[in-house]
Amino acid sequence: MNKQILHIALIGLCVSSCGPDLSVIPEATPKMAMEMGVTQASLQRGRATYMAHCNKCHERVLPAKIDPEYWREILPHMSVNARLDSVQQKELQTYLIAAHGTVYKLNLQH
Ligand code: HEC
Repeated sequence: MNKQILHIALIGLCVSSCGPDLSVIPEATPKMAMEMGVTQASLQRGRATYMAHCNKCHERVLPAKIDPEYWREILPHMSVNARLDSVQQKELQTYLIAAHGTVYKLNLQH
């Protein structure tokens, strides 16, 4: 096989599959909890809130798609939309920021 064609084919493959997987909604891990300074149970409750309340009016907006600063800005509004209490809102925010970071850290390993 022509080497140059093979090379071009490999580059094409990487462009379509080597980026971070933005569709991930990771389970809370001890490592994520430690990095965020919260318990794993609290982080997992944040995830459960996200799964239960954040796809009622629109598709679930995935953690990796929104920067931490914008999550902090938009969550007060969305928590009112979803009728969350302040503890649920805090746990959700911590989860979304942790999950955002996890997706991009996984990418660094490639
Ligand atoms: C009662 C309906 C409703 C619920 C429940 C709701 N949202 Fe929304 N969301 C909206 C509407 C309407 C918009 C667009 C207008 C706006 O920004 O207010 C929006 C916009 C957003 C955006 C901005 C998207 C962008 O591209 O800028 C994000 C992020 C978001 N929602 C996340 C969430 C999360 C996380 C939850 C769970 C706590 C949630 N939403 C629950 C109605 C809702």
